[in-house]
Amino acid sequence: MRHEGWRCPSLELANGREIPMVGFGCAFGNWTGGDGLQGFLPEQAWRPMTLALEAGYTHFDTAFCYGTERHLGDILGRAMSTGQVTREDLFITTKLAHPPSPPHIAISHLLTWDWHAVDDIGQRVMDDFEHSKEKLGVGAVDLLLVHWPGSFDNTDAGRAREARLAVWERFEALLARGDAMAIGVCNFTRNHLADLIDAGRTVPMVNQVELHPYCQDPELTAFCRDQGIVVQAYAPFASGSFGLLQDPVIRDVAKEANVSTGQAILRWHLQLGHVVVPKSSNQRRIAENLDLFSFELDEGQMARITGLAPSEPKRSTADPDSVL
Ligand SMILES: NC(=O)c1ccc[n+]([C@@H]2O[C@H](COP(=O)([O-])OP(=O)(O)OC[C@H]3O[C@@H](n4cnc5c(N)ncnc54)[C@H](OP(=O)(O)O)[C@@H]3O)[C@@H](O)[C@H]2O)c1
Repeated sequence: MRHEGWRCPSLELANGREIPMVGFGCAFGNWTGGDGLQGFLPEQAWRPMTLALEAGYTHFDTAFCYGTERHLGDILGRAMSTGQVTREDLFITTKLAHPPSPPHIAISHLLTWDWHAVDDIGQRVMDDFEHSKEKLGVGAVDLLLVHWPGSFDNTDAGRAREARLAVWERFEALLARGDAMAIGVCNFTRNHLADLIDAGRTVPMVNQVELHPYCQDPELTAFCRDQGIVVQAYAPFASGSFGLLQDPVIRDVAKEANVSTGQAILRWHLQLGHVVVPKSSNQRRIAENLDLFSFELDEGQMARITGLAPSEPKRSTADPDSVL
């Protein structure tokens, strides 16, 4: 447990609300399990999410399709009922509108939908939001994100843009009626963002994208910064794949800074201005992933980690550029 009164440093969103720079990733599953079936395993979430709250996390990153909204609502509800935390202490993010995933990933059809097959996409967003709200049981969410910019197999760019605008219209409505205190997107490229911005719509306050030393996108992050969009790094450790956490350059930097490789990676993100949402199931790593504010990487150490960017980004999820 962190000392009483400690607050995670935060960034200001375009509407003046604060987002803590470290959130706890609430997607539990097997993503790197070779050829077998992959998917969400929300039953694994109970203990780590409880430990994260005890360790001092106040920012939690869940989604309609993760199946952990109920867990989060329950754990936070119990902590609020004993006075351990208040609603005002917490920053809760959820996400809607995840398209169907490839067949090797087992996500219930009740938790995903094809953007181009539903009759009324706006109604579907509102219905899903009500389910999320009920499971979380905390009233308005602090941040509501569009999970993907569209369906993976769509080939009609015009239709995709229309669908994005229809989803976003409902997000704007949820913001206006106070059900979401901030709204944003995930996995949006510059082109996806331009669809909303060029149409004169509310500029997303956050873009949550896969970012880590093996998957960097300086052009997109600079564009977001210019537009006042906070960048959130998901899978900040590449979901534990590609040997990132064993990279010799990061190991050396970590040794110099007297921290773990995980902490060196997260500190690199923070110094680039990214909000991070690491996930861990291990009590020690849960705590160390929040213990990032008593050391700094110098310019040379930052440059060495940045220099690890491969010519082709290594992604643990789909390439958003492949979504029209
Ligand atoms: N918007 C989107 O489309 C999207 C997509 C993917 C993820 N996300 C969000 O991002 C969150 C994090 O992504 P992720 O869960 O895929 O992966 P991640 O946080 O990049 O990596 C998790 C892996 O790293 C290990 N790990 C955690 N802390 C460590 C440390 N300090 N040292 C060494 N290893 C460590 C974990 O193992 P242990 O558990 O054993 O510690 C686990 O294997 C998700 O939970 C979700 O909230 C969003």
